[in-house]
Amino acid sequence: MKDLTPKRQDLDPIEIASRDEIAALQLVRLKWSLKHAYENVPHYRKSFDAAGVHPDDLKQLSDLSKFPFTVKADLRDNYPFGMFAVPREKVARIHASSGTTGKPTVVGYTRNDIDVWAECVARSMRASGTRPGDIVHIAYGYGLFTGGLGAHYGAERLGCTVVPVSGGMTPRQVNLIEDFGATTIMVTPSYMLAILDEYRAQGRDPRKSPLQVGIFGAEPWTNAMRAEIEEAFDMHAVDIYGLSEVMGPGVANECVETKDGLHVWEDHFFPEVIDPDTGRVLPDGERGELVFTSLTKEAFPIMRYRTRDLTRLLPGTARTMRRMEKVTGRSDDMMILRGVNVFPTQIEEQILALSGLAPHFQIELRREGRLDQMVVHVEAHPEHAADEARRSLASRLGGRIKQVIGISVVVSVTEPGQVARSQGKAQRIVDNRPKG
Ligand code: DLL
Repeated sequence: MKDLTPKRQDLDPIEIASRDEIAALQLVRLKWSLKHAYENVPHYRKSFDAAGVHPDDLKQLSDLSKFPFTVKADLRDNYPFGMFAVPREKVARIHASSGTTGKPTVVGYTRNDIDVWAECVARSMRASGTRPGDIVHIAYGYGLFTGGLGAHYGAERLGCTVVPVSGGMTPRQVNLIEDFGATTIMVTPSYMLAILDEYRAQGRDPRKSPLQVGIFGAEPWTNAMRAEIEEAFDMHAVDIYGLSEVMGPGVANECVETKDGLHVWEDHFFPEVIDPDTGRVLPDGERGELVFTSLTKEAFPIMRYRTRDLTRLLPGTARTMRRMEKVTGRSDDMMILRGVNVFPTQIEEQILALSGLAPHFQIELRREGRLDQMVVHVEAHPEHAADEARRSLASRLGGRIKQVIGISVVVSVTEPGQVARSQGKAQRIVDNRPKG
């Protein structure tokens, strides 16, 4: 893999400013943002008043802990445009999260918000090793989902040649990467695996592909998955994080030279980590739920939004801005099996540790009598697809999961191609337990 570390003079000065400079900028912006939300969004006025706090009460950054949280239900209750802080005519773009139940969450952007977003994604891409002039293949979905258009505007801003493919039609993805000579790909890690399978199905050597950088996010993925993709393609695999409520992709990103967690772009988003049960703010270094407050957003300011993502904050390395550790799961992704907390990423790690297994898996939850049972459906690599080999892999995986995670699961190792493929975010958990 090539050394793609960006030159220091190409970074935004604030990325490497001193902590004091960053904090001073954050304080000015946070005061503005709280006031903007309070004065223009009835929901925030009501919730601040109910909590007995006023934007003027914020004298230092830590005073933010006095302000109330915002949760997804607040956004749903104000569907569709009730959380906007500018007149609707000033909203240049709408995005929404699909949401499997109930109404989608709607977010809006002014022209200036879209500009800032493009800057954040361009910064993220540069941190990933992408350079102006690169050919960028975007396979995140275009549409209401923020992945496609968010990546697109960022790539244009950085000065790249953008190929807006969107998701789906996997054989065509491979043909276009090869024919156009894409050097960067932006896609969910699970869909990248489907693209990898397609390379092999077409008899092409993925290590000979023109790709040098993959910018993967929108779902949790492990360092084991990073190793798998980097080895298969001989490319850098870098993590990008974001959520529509806070902006979209580009809230935080790893640096290609360190790959040690994601630098939060703290000049636009103020992160906190809280104890999910008590709401108490935790010191940096402790694991908990990530909470974000926007510092510059005009159309959709968001105050102390509970992301449900679990991580911890760490000091900066390649940049001065703090890092968030790779997100290992969401509080609502967490399965509790006979009292043991389990995340799909823990199962992923054990699967990737066995070379005979392909990284395609799905977890089914069933009810056996009165007990919940977890069935891990995972595919064998083609050369391990014989019955005997699959049986042995299943028992080895079951043993590892028992030993490392401490739960007994049923493992079903299938032939290649049996586990449903995602073309965007993977659906890792299928809950077949009786409802109610
Ligand atoms: O997934 C935005 C995005 C698009 C991020 C493309 C990165 C790349 P939502 O659909 O609103 O937005 O989903 C946000 O996805 O709260 C996390 O649970 C999860 N997520 C996003 N990025 C990562 C990541 C987009 N790098 C939700 N690692 C978030 C783990 C991620 N989880």
